[in-house]
Order: sequence, then C-alpha cells, then structure tokens
Amino acid sequence: MSDGATARGSATEREEARKTAEGLEHLSGFGNEHSSEAVPRALPVGRNSPQRAPLGLYAEQLSGSAFTEPRAENRRSWLYRIRPSAAHPSFTRTGNGALRSAPFTQTVPDPNRLRWNPLPDPDEGTDFLAGLWTLGGNGDVAQRSGMAVHLYHANASMRRVFSDADGELLIVPERGGLLLRTEFGMLHVEPGHVALIPRGVRFRVELLDETARGYVCENYGAAFRLPDLGPIGANGLANARDFRAPVAAYEDVEGPVEVVNKFCGNLWAATYDHSPLDVVAWHGNHVPYAYDLRRFNVMGTISYDHPDPSIFTVLTSPSDTPGLAGVDFVVFAPRWLVGEDTFRPPYFHRNVMSEYMGLIEGAYDAKTAGKGGFVPGGGSLHNMMSAHGPDRETFDRASAAELRPQKIDDGLAFMFETRWPVSLTPQAARAEHLQQGYDDVWRGLERHFRPLH
Ligand SMILES: [Fe+2]
Repeated sequence: MSDGATARGSATEREEARKTAEGLEHLSGFGNEHSSEAVPRALPVGRNSPQRAPLGLYAEQLSGSAFTEPRAENRRSWLYRIRPSAAHPSFTRTGNGALRSAPFTQTVPDPNRLRWNPLPDPDEGTDFLAGLWTLGGNGDVAQRSGMAVHLYHANASMRRVFSDADGELLIVPERGGLLLRTEFGMLHVEPGHVALIPRGVRFRVELLDETARGYVCENYGAAFRLPDLGPIGANGLANARDFRAPVAAYEDVEGPVEVVNKFCGNLWAATYDHSPLDVVAWHGNHVPYAYDLRRFNVMGTISYDHPDPSIFTVLTSPSDTPGLAGVDFVVFAPRWLVGEDTFRPPYFHRNVMSEYMGLIEGAYDAKTAGKGGFVPGGGSLHNMMSAHGPDRETFDRASAAELRPQKIDDGLAFMFETRWPVSLTPQAARAEHLQQGYDDVWRGLERHFRPLH
C-alpha cells in the first residue's frame, strides 16, 4: 500500500508519467525474436553468455517454457542487467489482500447465471497490486493449469515492483491509462487496450489518470498466443504486427525497493537495495506486449447466421486437447451486421466452456444497457452448461428488426472463456455488488409456439 505522500504528489507524477507514456517507442510483432538495448553495445553479439558481458552487465536467462519444449512453444529471453536477479534477500510472506488463487475450493460451484456491478471505489492510496480483487477461477497454480478472473481498482501508482510466478497477466483496462514499467521497458495502455505480462516478469503499474479500473485474466496454463487462422488465411483477427513490445529502458536506482512475488497463491515480499528493473538490454520472445483492441480485424458472416464467438478470439492458451483452450480471450469489437434472415445478436446457447464477460465501454448487443444491467466495469459469469443468450428486450427487438446492414459501434465487450467451471471466491459470492435477480432478464420470454393445423 502506498502512503499518503503518494496521493498528495500524484498529480505531477501522473503528468510526468503521461508524458513518458505518450513518447514511448516500441518494437512491433507478437512472438518475434526481439532484441533491444538502452545503451549502445550493451547486447552481446553472436552469443548469449560471453565470459564478460558487455559494459559490466550480468547475463541472465528468463525461461517461460521448459528448455526442451518444441521451438514453436519455446519462450525465453536473455536479460543483460546491472545486478543479477539472484542478488536479493529472503522473501517473507505478506498479506494477499483480496487476491486469491486456484484451487478455488471455498465455495460450492454455482450453476446460476451471475452478474456483478463494478467494484466499489478503493480506499485512498490503493495501488494496482493492493487493488486486485479475485472473482474466481479454476485449475491449480501448482499444476500450472487453469485461470483466475481478477478485477482491479486503484488510485495510486505502485512504488513497489511485482511479479507473478503463477501465471501470465492479461490486463484489460476499463478506466484510466496505465504506464507499465517492466524489466523489458515501458508499455502504455489505455481503456480499449490490453497488456500481457509474461510469467515471472517484474513490473510496476503507474497511473496516468486519477483512478484506474479494469480486469485481469491470470493464466496459469500455456502462454497466450495468437489463434490459428485455418481457412481465414494468413491475415486477420489480431494481426501479429499490431502487438507492441517495449524497447529496453532501465532504472539505475540504489536504495530500498519492495519487491512482491506471487508464488503458489501467496504474496511474498523482500526489500531489495536496488531496483530490479535494471535490464539495460535484452533479446528473446518471452516479452510483455500491449495491443489496441480496436486494431482487431473482426470477421463475421456476410451471408447468414451469427458465427460462434470463437471467431472473435484475440489470444488463446491451448490445452493438451487440440482446439480446447485453457482460456481464450475474445473481444466483441465494433463491426457490421449484415446477415440475411438471421437473428443477429448472439443466439441462445448452453456451452461446455465457461464464460466470464466484461464490458470496457458502451453496451453489449445481447444485453440491454443501463443501470442494474451489464455495465462497463461490471461482469457476468455463465458457467458450464448454464443457459443464456439475449435478454427478453433484445430478443423482442432483434426478432422484429428490419434487417438492413447495421453497424455495432457503441461498445467494447470481451470474454475470458475457459475449459473448466469458474468457482467463486467467497468475496465474489457474497459481494454487495453482485446483482440480485439477474435471472429476470430472461423472464417474460413469451411462448410463441403455434402448431400448424
Ligand atoms: Fe455465451
């Protein structure tokens, strides 16, 4: 938790952070073998671990996959840093706040359709890490399988540094811009963008606006990647070149820095005598990214029927079963609807996968907008085999609509779709912001059946 001075000094700090964020350069492309140096000649040429690394730096490998995983799966980066990561004192347990981890066993898995309003405002001086609030998830951190759904709310920049050994973090801002200072350099994200911080990468979140709010998918399983495109071809959906990786930027800071590590579900803290964001050069493919969801190349029908939402997959974390994702990140971005003789909003369905949906802005085309409905910052959970789809108002409207080409451009919704049911944390099951009566949106769906005589 940051102290009161942080909040008092924050306006100038935010201005400076914004200036930094808006002037950032970046590297382009998802999954590339990137390289970057903040100081010329900091990166060794022709080898990873020379007898003496350039400029008196320490060479260090950060593995995101087992050494022996196939080349297409293999993730690792080489970091050239002022001090090796190994130079740190012991970690000791610190409070987990509202952050929880799999296995989620404290509540009975709930088959009901559930919906939440946004998190209430945080206490003063809440940074991103303190503001993480876990809704639920599945799998097991120690087995590196499954995922967690978190929300965050913050009103102070982090002073400390965080890393997550349990999984990668897909950060989905809904309110407030963020400057992410990582070991690899800086990334700038605004609502409508996402950031992906790989497992184990240290970072700090600085606020660019007075408050910040959003969602986080913590993916314990295989690293997110772009989905295969099959017959779509070589281009489309999220294009690899639109992912921004940072250029190397380092802090040469001596003095106490709190470093928090999430390990097997708990937070552990140590006070370093220097900033661990001291990587002067790096190369590799285990790197953080930012991506603007408005760059998503939306595919859809140009004849009839609503395609399955998998057509909107931005990133996927595969499982051992082909086509079965541990978790997919799916976006419902602005798009044209032109289907003929088609019920155009999402259809009624029951899904073996479990769906957590959030709303970044505007409205979602299967749900009526407005207070008490599906609102930005809120979320819904449709667990395995739960029956859901358009609400009554949407069904009535779409069934009667004139089927002209129609642009959906007033919303940005997303889904974390996962292979296993999402079990709730007690705080989510009992939250004051859990909506009562969500089932009612499907009440009054009238009987229209009229047998032919
Ligand atoms: Fe669904």
